[in-house]
Amino acid sequence: MNYKIKKIINKKNKSKIVCLTAYSKNIAEIIDNHTDIVLVGDSLGSVLYNFNTTRKVNLNMMIEHTRSVKAGIKKSLLVIDLPYNTYRNKIEALKNSKRAIKETKCDAVKIEGGSEVSDIVNYLVKNKVNVLGHIGVTPQTVKGKFRSKGKTEKEKIKLIRDAQALEKSGAFGIVLECVYSDISKKITKLIKIPTIGIGASINCDGQVLVTDDILGLTNAKIKFVKKYINIRKIINSAVFKFKKEVKSRKYPTKKYSY
Ligand code: KIV
Repeated sequence: MNYKIKKIINKKNKSKIVCLTAYSKNIAEIIDNHTDIVLVGDSLGSVLYNFNTTRKVNLNMMIEHTRSVKAGIKKSLLVIDLPYNTYRNKIEALKNSKRAIKETKCDAVKIEGGSEVSDIVNYLVKNKVNVLGHIGVTPQTVKGKFRSKGKTEKEKIKLIRDAQALEKSGAFGIVLECVYSDISKKITKLIKIPTIGIGASINCDGQVLVTDDILGLTNAKIKFVKKYINIRKIINSAVFKFKKEVKSRKYPTKKYSY
């Protein structure tokens, strides 16, 4: 097992795991100083490409963005999302994972689903691919509106079974997306691998958010998203100053000329 993976697992019950998304080098370089895991999420479909579903993201796009992110990463574990229709069976999953790892030098892949993908996870792990699971709201398969999971008894039982199946299959961690607080707590206590929550409460072993959301680059109005800065405002002010200086011939002075 990769030493970076071991380090992540060892954080359970000791120190919270910090995970953020990145889609390109410059952001990756900044966040890498603070993160344990950098995820190139297929959320890039909506965040960067204005897609209405992550299903439109393909493996080539994920690989290109991950190569860029890799150039900015020194210490964090780098995880790539396998996009929709790239892991419909274990042969396809292994072929695409191996390609993604070879072409990006990332450390692990993330796939969505619970018990229904546990054979695939197991096959990947047996073939030396590190896998991060993802249950709760799984955007690649959501039909209609996103709805938090774990309210009904049936959903609770399914989430617990899914988490246990992924652990048994060899996943090194599980993302819990939009899972009710009590059930995140139960799962986190029950399994030995870390849970990383997104809208799944403080009870998880770590937290992940979309970097563009916390920076205020997107206009996300989602309950669990905390905006730590309004970077749009800062960019707007810098660009306004540039425009003003160009129009007034203040830029470029001699200092900025050859
Ligand atoms: O696609 C993504 O960015 C994700 C995380 C937000 C968990 O899956």
